Amino acid sequence: MTEKDFIPGPAGALPESGSARWQAPSNIALVKYWGKKAGQIPTNPSVSFTLDSSATRTELRYRRRDQASGAPGFEVFLDGRPAPGFREKIRAFFERILPYQPFVSEYDFEVHTTNTFPHSSGIASSASGMAALALCLADLERAIFPGMEPERFTRKASFLARLGSGSAARSIEGSLVHWGQHGSIPGSSDLYGIRYPLELHPVFESYRDTILLVDKGQKQVSSTAGHNLMKGHPFAAERFKQARDHIDALQPIFRGGDLEAFISLVESEALTLHAMMMTSDPYFLLMKPATLQIIERIWEFRRETGEPVCFTLDAGANVHFLYPKESEARAYAFVREQLVPFCEEGQHLCDQVGKGAVSF
Ligand code: DP6
Repeated sequence: MTEKDFIPGPAGALPESGSARWQAPSNIALVKYWGKKAGQIPTNPSVSFTLDSSATRTELRYRRRDQASGAPGFEVFLDGRPAPGFREKIRAFFERILPYQPFVSEYDFEVHTTNTFPHSSGIASSASGMAALALCLADLERAIFPGMEPERFTRKASFLARLGSGSAARSIEGSLVHWGQHGSIPGSSDLYGIRYPLELHPVFESYRDTILLVDKGQKQVSSTAGHNLMKGHPFAAERFKQARDHIDALQPIFRGGDLEAFISLVESEALTLHAMMMTSDPYFLLMKPATLQIIERIWEFRRETGEPVCFTLDAGANVHFLYPKESEARAYAFVREQLVPFCEEGQHLCDQVGKGAVSF
């Protein structure tokens, strides 16, 4: 599908008012998206576990305006209170989606949103937040074009979510989602995420992710700024090739459940992501001392016990501790005894691979 395929035909009757409610999960990338081109097009494909309990719940209320103008009117509320801090991001989002949903300029919107994780936790809420809002807008489109097929609905939601935040394209479906055109992944596209279409060993369907909150503060460098620093980065071409190779290397791993190979690929991706940050111009560092201490403890625990546990990182200091369901009791006892002391105020979130967004 091309961008043109996402432009709807002439709208029939527009509903006067209504609402849509969607809960969308966060996700954690195994092969990382880092670097993008104009129009939120990724420079390499990525693949992620969809999470389960870390999610954003959004209600979108809409009402026809007396007169259409160039842009929709909107107000944003977080936990029931006005959230002017989100205004600019959502304004830019509406501007980007306008060619693909021209009818939004006929409406005034209220966006009521809440996160199931503490929003001070520092874990990225832009993926789940943008995915939930995109689903609500796809819902409005379905109200205008009632014949919209379920697959088209899902694709459109992911397409719109991508325009809000790249990784949000992977927060619509579960349990493993691929985003980015890649020769060996049938149906893959730069424009939207798809459920991983190849064989997946059941061990990956119930993976656990304990998110260790090392630093809950505001990040010094946003993801968007970090992506931009991949332009002209001395190692960019090699990195983009490596990510594509990793997508290929994961296929037999996902099929056969080789956890040793999974661990070394996933940890290499995490450290490469941060290596790209450290070698950007200007360079920057998002890991904190506790990030490294946790990584070393995880390596030590794996060496001593043989449990197939590993870590990954997103664009921040927090650590995602990944392990199969079978290891849960031993891995979580280890978290409590050895990792929680490195977390800010001992905070951590227990999550697992989930099935994707739901309406409520
Ligand atoms: C390191 O999706 O937050 O988490 O498209 O600018 O909103 P924007 O960036 P964003 O970048 C995510 C980067 C990452 C890797 C990943 O999720 O693949």
